[in-house]
Amino acid sequence: MAIPLIIDTDPGVDDAFAIALAARSPEVDLRGLTTVFGNVALDLTTRNAQRLLAHLGRTDVPVVRGAEGPSGAADVHGEDGLGGQAHTLPESDHELFGDDVIGFFRERLTPDTVVVAIGPQTNIAKALDAGIEFPRLIVMGGGLDLGNTTARAEFNFWADPAAARTVIRKGNPIVVPLNLTHRCIADTEFLAKVDPVLSNLTGTYRAYLANRSENTGIYIHDAVAVAEAIGPSS
Ligand code: RIB
Ligand code: CA
Repeated sequence: MAIPLIIDTDPGVDDAFAIALAARSPEVDLRGLTTVFGNVALDLTTRNAQRLLAHLGRTDVPVVRGAEGPSGAADVHGEDGLGGQAHTLPESDHELFGDDVIGFFRERLTPDTVVVAIGPQTNIAKALDAGIEFPRLIVMGGGLDLGNTTARAEFNFWADPAAARTVIRKGNPIVVPLNLTHRCIADTEFLAKVDPVLSNLTGTYRAYLANRSENTGIYIHDAVAVAEAIGPSS
């Protein structure tokens, strides 16, 4: 039985590989993407989500526009959120499912649905505050004594710390922190094998990391969180 999955996302280059992993896995029944501000502004993360699904041949998957907020990682993901290469993906002709994320969760969550949140936690926190209960919630965020946006702050939690606090306190999430995702680096050769079109999105991200480390690839933070949904480690 395929795992019903909803991804809350701010695409974002590593989000793109996470969405591709879910969209192409026979073990997953991808039920929807809910978008949030983060790597870039909400308009761009939402458009990127639609374009990624069009590229993946999955315009059957609804996209729900979520919370706006201050974006903050264009230096990593490019001004368009996809390494300046968003235009290389097909424009999407499928309509937005709407902008009522809480209503979408209320309508679509089933007892076996897994939600993977791979951006700022704003949508998830609002849903929890509205009384939504997530049967299984996986969150990419945080770090134990480790940060990427500051010395001790990870971007998704840094972008909306109040929402992160709510999710940790109310959502009983499985947290996938930087301590794990920093061990998951994918180089250009591997990414090109996964999807040469998506690999073409990684230039800005690779340059950012190459200027700060010995890395020649990208951290696939968000794909690790989706992998946890597909093959639970615990
Ligand atoms: O800190 C890594 C997280 O921040 C990932 O989700 C990445 O896409 C960015 O949103
Ligand atoms: Ca993300």
